[in-house]
Amino acid sequence: MISIRKAEPTDARALLLHINTVGKETDFLSFSEFNISEEREARFIRRFSESESDLMLIALDGELVVGNGVIERERIPRYSHRATLSLTVLSEYSGQGIGSSLMKELLDFSRVSGLRTVSLEVRADNVRAISLYRKFGFDLIGTYKDYFCIDGKYYDALIMQIILQR
Ligand SMILES: CC(C)(COP(=O)(O)OP(=O)(O)OC[C@H]1O[C@@H](n2cnc3c(N)ncnc32)[C@H](O)[C@@H]1OP(=O)(O)O)[C@@H](O)C(=O)NCCC(=O)NCCS
Repeated sequence: MISIRKAEPTDARALLLHINTVGKETDFLSFSEFNISEEREARFIRRFSESESDLMLIALDGELVVGNGVIERERIPRYSHRATLSLTVLSEYSGQGIGSSLMKELLDFSRVSGLRTVSLEVRADNVRAISLYRKFGFDLIGTYKDYFCIDGKYYDALIMQIILQR
């Protein structure tokens, strides 16, 4: 049984394990591993758990963090109607609707907190993620050429956006 809740600083170790596992499972992310201490990760999570404008969710199977979803609002006043979104699910748990459940909660939060628009960048060949984003109403607004450089090879990213309020 999978449960979804807000991440707390005490989840730092489990979240680092998640991030480092998913980072090694896929080349679709901006990182392959996060070499940071549990304390630093806990401080990072606290920023979200104490914030009313940002949200970090985790999906749990028992104690194992199987999914992670983040909404981070821009700080600069003229940008603060916007946020960026990120999503990861362990490969063993993908295709079970966990990414969709996280996405739904992140967008519900975004609407309630008055965000106007949410955007993300996704590797152009990440078919699964792109179909999830389209399913939730994200539109393609551009292509960032050579966005990633992985082992000397360049990959484009699609920039996608959803407008929540007009
Ligand atoms: C992308 C990711 C978050 C999707 O999470 P998930 O839990 O597998 O997603 P869901 O099971 O909720 O599926 C959501 C949608 O993805 C699409 N999808 C699922 N499996 C798919 C597949 N094999 N091929 C193509 N699309 C697929 C479908 O549109 C699906 O919706 P539907 O079941 O209603 O048709 C997850 O696979 C992941 O973390 N991948 C590695 C990291 C990553 O790429 N993150 C995104 C970076 S931008």
